[in-house]
Amino acid sequence: MKSPTPDSSQLPPHQVLPRYYADPSRRRAFVSNLFDDTAKHYDWIIKVMSFGSGNRYRKEALLRAGLRPGMHVIDVASGTGPVSRSEVDIVGPHGSVVSVDRSYNMLDVARKSVPTPGIQASAEDLPFPDNQFDFLSMGYALRHVDDLNDTFAEYRRVLKPGGSVLIMELTPPKSAIGRRFVKFYLNSVVPTIARIGTRSDDARTLMKYFWDTIDSCVPPQSILDAMKRSGFADVSCHCISGVFREYVGRKP
Ligand SMILES: C[S@@+](CC[C@H](N)C(=O)[O-])C[C@H]1O[C@@H](n2cnc3c(N)ncnc32)[C@H](O)[C@@H]1O
Repeated sequence: MKSPTPDSSQLPPHQVLPRYYADPSRRRAFVSNLFDDTAKHYDWIIKVMSFGSGNRYRKEALLRAGLRPGMHVIDVASGTGPVSRSEVDIVGPHGSVVSVDRSYNMLDVARKSVPTPGIQASAEDLPFPDNQFDFLSMGYALRHVDDLNDTFAEYRRVLKPGGSVLIMELTPPKSAIGRRFVKFYLNSVVPTIARIGTRSDDARTLMKYFWDTIDSCVPPQSILDAMKRSGFADVSCHCISGVFREYVGRKP
């Protein structure tokens, strides 16, 4: 078991958020419980918050990152499967997709609509041999891993030489007015709609946590640096509207 105090080789995606958990050792359990408790509401919430455009965006990002028919893919932190579903469409009958998530309930919801094997495991410790996949994706979950360095080292390990990684994430816009607008939407409007639409306080907490982790996450350059340190080449970040980030890299 890892020390709860990060040493200098560790890079958590954000600092402790005392509103939700008291110290780093509690973070993993908090995140797992939060996603387990809200799995049945997740698809509804993301559809409403993205005005129904989230799945189309995910598919376009996968194509931009080079996903092609016939590839063998691992979708990490797959949740209810919105990224995996698009991957199945793109890779077609000669490719394959495996979905990995730490939350049993998320995988259980995914099982009903996504035709991929769902494996319960952590991004930092993937139960696969080295050099297995052509493409690795992670949608909106990098903020939730324990440590960026461990995660990227593991991603590099399971990719084949020449394989690609795509991380989709959100960041607050740089302009003050853009930030205020996005904060108001994600921190006030979305949690309120989530609470009313699902009648679940957990769904409201999920969306509050969603914004708080976006706001406190390390900057994009730290993510790119961590990818490079883990041995990824051709590392870059494509940004849309100052908010949607697509980090890509290639295992040499
Ligand atoms: C916001 S959801 C994203 C789901 C999906 N990828 C999408 O694009 O909507 C985050 C998911 O990450 C999972 N997760 C969080 N930390 C994880 C970790 N360290 N390893 C694997 N899954 C993790 C959660 O259980 C949850 O299902």
